[in-house]
Order: sequence, then C-alpha cells, then structure tokens
Amino acid sequence: MGRKVILTGDRPTGRLHIGHYVGSLRRRVELQDSGTFDDIFVMIADAQALTDNADNPGKIRDSILQVALDYLAAGLDPAKTHIFIQSQISELTELTFFYNNLVTVQRLQRNPTVKAEIQMRGFNEDVAQDNKAGIPVGFFCYPISQAADITAFKATVVPVGEDQEPMLEQTREIVRKFNATYAPVLVEPEILLPDNASCMRLPGTDGKAKMSKSLGNCIYLSDDAPTVSAKVRGMYTDPNHLQVSDPGKVEGNPVFTYLDAFCRDEHFEKFGACFQGRKASFEFHNLDEVKAQYRAGGLGDVMVKNFLDAVLQDTLQPMRERRARFEQDLPYVVEVLRQGTEAARAVAAQTLAEVKRAMRINYFEPEGGLI
Ligand code: TRP
Repeated sequence: MGRKVILTGDRPTGRLHIGHYVGSLRRRVELQDSGTFDDIFVMIADAQALTDNADNPGKIRDSILQVALDYLAAGLDPAKTHIFIQSQISELTELTFFYNNLVTVQRLQRNPTVKAEIQMRGFNEDVAQDNKAGIPVGFFCYPISQAADITAFKATVVPVGEDQEPMLEQTREIVRKFNATYAPVLVEPEILLPDNASCMRLPGTDGKAKMSKSLGNCIYLSDDAPTVSAKVRGMYTDPNHLQVSDPGKVEGNPVFTYLDAFCRDEHFEKFGACFQGRKASFEFHNLDEVKAQYRAGGLGDVMVKNFLDAVLQDTLQPMRERRARFEQDLPYVVEVLRQGTEAARAVAAQTLAEVKRAMRINYFEPEGGLI
C-alpha cells in the first residue's frame, strides 16, 4: 500500500477569490477533513509568482500573509495540513536544476497553459522594438519547477483547476523519464479536478470567462458583507431578460453559474423568503425549480440576485469571522508558515537525497564514493 499524499498550491499575487474557493480550496478542506491522506502539503508558490513578477517582488511578499489568512479562514487546519512557502525550500530549485535536463524547449513550447499565459502577458511582442518584451526564461520553465514541487513530496493527488492539467502531464512525463533513466524513486501524481462543471472556471461578475484581479470582476473571500452585496447586485445576467415576464437564459448567466457552484437544497429552507415579493411569490425547493421558472419567465433578476447574495453571505460569513480572529494574531500565522515550511523542507530534502543517489551524484556518501 503506497502512501496517499496531497500537494497543491497557489501563486500569491493577491487575496484569494471565490473562484479559488470553488475551484480547489473548498475541496482541499474536505480532503483534509476526510482523514484518508497520510500527508497534506499546501504551498504558497511565491517563487513561481516571481517568474512573471520579477520587477514587483513587493506585491508577492505582501500577498503571502493574505493567502495564508485566506487558507486558515477557509478551514485549512495546520494540525492536519502543512502550509509552507515555496522559496524557502532550496531543495526545490535543486530538483528543478536536474529535471531541466529531462525536458526539451520544444516540449515546453507545446504546453498549452504556458502558451496561453505568454499570449495573455504579451511576452511575445516584438523583442527588437521593446527590450522589456520577450519571455523570461524562469517563466518559460516554470512547469519544470512545478514538477519539482509535486515530486519533492511524492504527491499522489494534486487538487487543482483544469488549467493545471498540462502541468500535471508535464510532471508525469518527467517522473517517467527520471525513473527510466536513473532509478524508480519518483511518484506519478494524479490530478483531482472539481466534480462540478461550474466550479472548473468560475466566470467574473461581469460574465467574462475568468475571474481575475486585473479585470476587476472578483468577489474576494475577504470582502465584507456590503461589498459582496453590491457586487452581486451589479452582476451581469441575461442581457435579453429585460422584463420580468420575459423568458430568461440560464446558460452563460453568471448568477446561475455561481448558484450552481454554491447553492445547496438547504439554502431554500433558510432563504426561501428571497422569492416572496409583493408582485410575485414563488416557493422553490431546489435550483432546478428556480431555473425552470427563470426560463419560463416571470422571475426577476433582483429576486435571484437576492437569493445568491444570501447564499454567498452564508458561505463567506464564517470565513470572515475566522479571518478576523487570525488577523488579530499575525505572529501565530507566521509561526504556522514557519513550522509548515520546516516540515515540508525535511520531506523535500529526503527526496532530493534519493534523487542524487539515483543519479549517482552523491560522491561524498560512503556508497557513492568516487574511488
Ligand atoms: N501553477 C499553480 C497556479 O498557478 C500554482 C502551483 C505552483 C501549483 N506549484 C504547484 C499547484 C504545484 C499545484 C501543484 O495556481
């Protein structure tokens, strides 16, 4: 029986939003509390965040505590989960250095996530015209560093969003190549995707495909109640649903996508009053009934948004309370990170030693001696 180990993480480029929560964080807390894993590591990937923020290390630095607070607020428990900071584990860079030799430039160029990110960041603009353009080598190679993150802990399961699938594929290739070339010390990880399609990629409040800070369309886990309400009230819906009596569209309507991601049947008992108005009143027991009525016409966006607001507040309020408590005790949060990093480092060092033995670059160990 092999060990069951989770490794996952986030780039610290700001506070986490509800897309992070339904895409991965909520699942991590469930897995943590399931008690079926031997070890769980959650990494704040500051070194990876620097691969496209080299000129702005302050942003990354400032985000580390924010992400740690979001983790603790969401329910990650340092007694069960090692929360650690990537850059403080130099073993990861050493592993990356050796894995670099197992991957070709051509293979990295084919990585769909790297391709998309290069496009998005405009790295490919004419280098001759602008000496700031071009692809940073560290950025281009980050899939290899991510393989080091995952394999250092011999992770078997990596819960992430679907955009990370190419990273996992790259990691599995490196594992196979390493094990075949040297000795079978690395473990092939499996990706664990959200089971609910709406959680794969939560759209922004403006209906754009992705919730992203630069688009200003995020609801943050740490937003206070009035901020969340205002953002929900301003959400994009079906642009053709002009009159309440008009039939409405559920597909591609972010209000319904959020409900798909957050709403449970018990929310109808708790917040059914949202659907009782002076002009029209409905009694719904589940989301399918709401969708059917919206499609048929007669159900206004305001009611649906009020209900979504109630559901989101219900989900976020306990997190806000926990966050506020941890914000009062930042030295505790730092200590969590220090201890998590120490525990993670011990495991990574063990794997690195095995890797060096497999490659026979352990020249000063008795069994690896040069003579
Ligand atoms: N690439 C991930 C992201 O952008 C962050 C990350 C870095 C990660 N290393 C990892 C995720 C290892 C899972 C496993 O969110």
